[in-house]
Amino acid sequence: VKAAPLVAAAVAAVAAFTVVTLSSAGDSRERSAASEPRAGVVEGRSVFARFGCGTCHTLHAARARGPIGPNLDEALPRYDRDALAAKIVEPYPDGAPREFAQMPTDFGERMTDRELDALVAFLLAAAE
Ligand code: HEC
Repeated sequence: VKAAPLVAAAVAAVAAFTVVTLSSAGDSRERSAASEPRAGVVEGRSVFARFGCGTCHTLHAARARGPIGPNLDEALPRYDRDALAAKIVEPYPDGAPREFAQMPTDFGERMTDRELDALVAFLLAAAE
């Protein structure tokens, strides 16, 4: 009989703690989401370098002067986020490349989702 109020108090305390914990977790998620685009752009620049995009492509923002693929400073304004991610992951959705010079088709397997997101953020920012 005496234990019941204690249990109720404990339950209430746990519930209150949970609410506080959850709402502060929500706050920090919002904060990191707000600062994400900048981090993505910086990280994306290094993804561009690590995956050798600049060997083939010219892109001013990466100081890249690759002569093999299309000039990305000219091509990027035609792309939105989804089209760009799709082109990187699957450059030839209709099958074999038409020309001899070709874009590697295995970036989708070699990149994490995070790397792809960062790369796309960097490229979109570079195209502005
Ligand atoms: C071995 C050379 C090579 C590498 C490395 C390469 N690409 Fe390409 N890329 C090409 C060629 C060639 C094309 C044109 C092929 C086509 O679209 O038919 C192309 C096309 C593109 C296009 C479309 C351009 C347009 O005119 O619409 C984008 C965007 C692109 N590449 C981004 C990248 C990114 C980002 C990377 C690095 C992750 C990369 N490429 C790595 C050769 C390369």
